[in-house]
Amino acid sequence: MAETTTTDAAGRSGAEAASAPQGAPGERTSTRRSYLMCRPEHFTVSYRINPWMHPAAPTDTALAVRQWQSLYDTFVGLGHDVHLIDPAPGLPDMVYAANGGFTLDGVAYGARFAHEQRAAEGPAYMRWFAEHGFRVAQPEYVNEGEGDFMLVGDTILAGRGFRSTSGSHAEASALFGREVLSLTLVDPRFYHLDTALAVLDPLTGDADANVAYLPHAFDEASRRLLAERYPNAVIVSDTDAAVLGLNSISDGRNVVISSRARGFEAQLAERGYNPIGVDLSELLLGGGGVKCCTLELRR
Ligand code: ARG
Repeated sequence: MAETTTTDAAGRSGAEAASAPQGAPGERTSTRRSYLMCRPEHFTVSYRINPWMHPAAPTDTALAVRQWQSLYDTFVGLGHDVHLIDPAPGLPDMVYAANGGFTLDGVAYGARFAHEQRAAEGPAYMRWFAEHGFRVAQPEYVNEGEGDFMLVGDTILAGRGFRSTSGSHAEASALFGREVLSLTLVDPRFYHLDTALAVLDPLTGDADANVAYLPHAFDEASRRLLAERYPNAVIVSDTDAAVLGLNSISDGRNVVISSRARGFEAQLAERGYNPIGVDLSELLLGGGGVKCCTLELRR
């Protein structure tokens, strides 16, 4: 079940905010979330499994940790509940917690990575889920968790083309008993669904659900599907997507995004969201941003 506690702009929380009018008509409402993150203590770029990664270029682990900390502090400041998993030496990409699994209704669908460099992260995250009260479903098919599975209303959007496979879409559909909409990614820069699409209102009914995306990251059929389903979607520019601007986290009102995605920031503000920019330049060297560093826990 999704958590129902809410916080509003004034920082009121729980029943008070839920029952009180939310200010101006049409003002958006945030919902308190529970996240899992992994401090990038072992972050570096030592292999190349996406076009963003250049192992020969230097990385600054201390800076990565400071930038990550600012993201953590932002979530805590918004009233969200943030859990931590211990980073493991030798797994430099473990900071991208979104890939650790996909959780819904207290069930954690484990990840099975496409590349062997990240394979050991799957069991590490599954262990954490089991120790924290989730029923863990061992994956049979290759899938990279919330990187490619995103909940919008009652529908699960699922990416394929680079990492997660069609088999995993069927596996998730059977496991969660929800409609899974398969979307095919075609641009190697946007190799996970969460680099090409952002969920802005995840907890509302499908009718009001909204997303933001970069159309040319998807094949023709997927573009048609998205246009039909989400006629009010925010269409983001390539410039903003190319700084992983879409790789963002919304609580229904506050949208934490890359501070470099200035156009997306303006589009969100126009629609009544509260964009909050965070600089994760160091983690961008591994091909990840705000959303990659964040796994949502849904009980
Ligand atoms: N270096 C990582 C990889 O290529 C980055 C993962 C980014 N995560 C995400 N959810 N998009 O696997």
